[in-house]
Amino acid sequence: MILVTGANGNLGSQTIDFLLDKNINEDIAGLVRNEEKGAELKEKGVEIRIGDYTDYPSIEEAVQGVNTLLLISSSTLEGRAQQHNNVIEAAKKGGVQQIFYTSIVKAEEELSPLSPDHAKTEKLIKESGIPYTIYRNAFYMEFLPLFLGEAMDTGQWAFPSDGNPINLALRSEMAEALANGLADTEKHANSIYEITSNQAYTLDEIASMLSKASGKEINHTDISASEFEQGLNEAGLPEEQVAMSVMTAQTFVNGGLDFTFDDMEKLLGRKPTGLKTFIKQFVEQ
Ligand SMILES: NC(=O)c1ccc[n+]([C@@H]2O[C@H](COP(=O)([O-])OP(=O)(O)OC[C@H]3O[C@@H](n4cnc5c(N)ncnc54)[C@H](OP(=O)(O)O)[C@@H]3O)[C@@H](O)[C@H]2O)c1
Repeated sequence: MILVTGANGNLGSQTIDFLLDKNINEDIAGLVRNEEKGAELKEKGVEIRIGDYTDYPSIEEAVQGVNTLLLISSSTLEGRAQQHNNVIEAAKKGGVQQIFYTSIVKAEEELSPLSPDHAKTEKLIKESGIPYTIYRNAFYMEFLPLFLGEAMDTGQWAFPSDGNPINLALRSEMAEALANGLADTEKHANSIYEITSNQAYTLDEIASMLSKASGKEINHTDISASEFEQGLNEAGLPEEQVAMSVMTAQTFVNGGLDFTFDDMEKLLGRKPTGLKTFIKQFVEQ
């Protein structure tokens, strides 16, 4: 049995859909936090396991009979490494044969405020002795509209990057790459993949791609992370949203997404969708 955690989330549910399409000879289960969140999956024939990363006994029960576990990193940042540790410990106790984990690109370099939890989790997984497959994901291309804020209306995009290029990859293709790995566990045992698209672009280049595709001039201004944070606070955005946006900005400024690898291409068996294609579709919406 393959158990996918975060099964009602975006990445988890899409990974399950790709797995279902493959018709593999293994049962698929999804971990959700309550029955209601699992209703849609249940309708698709997915077995539902209930558990919360913060509640060790619930995870211990949820991993019973599981051969392969896809641990989707928690979206709750508080005590995140400890949450993951609960899952890894339960997997060890439950005899899980292989753990897949969704990390961040170049986790060990800790170029993003989000990296330390991932680096810690990767270490815990390796120390568990369970064969592992780590997908170090770039930031989602689907989030570009969020990074843009009002830029498509105002023509002005103020976002920190210190001139560093960023590599974004489609979440839906990350799900496909995960499903491809889960369908052939042995081939991917003890592997670390850097999941990026085939090209990184500076924010100036992205602004120019947006201008060309939309026919409207979009200008990027590279501001500092502190100026950016001040602007978001002055605009009255909720604290959590400001914190997440600032972490994104710091990642860009530190060059945390200036990496390009061909692992995703190999896992997909084709070139991943590039930013130009995504932008064309986005402006045509
Ligand atoms: N690469 C990127 O750009 C990027 C961006 C955002 C997030 N991420 C990371 O990638 C993960 C997957 O992305 P996504 O888009 O699928 O996120 P998502 O749609 O927010 O899904 C997150 C999933 O994690 C579950 N979860 C959160 N806390 C949990 C807990 N304590 N116990 C059990 N399950 C828990 C959520 O369950 P509930 O529905 O019950 O909350 C949900 O199913 C995120 O969780 C985050 O760690 C990456």
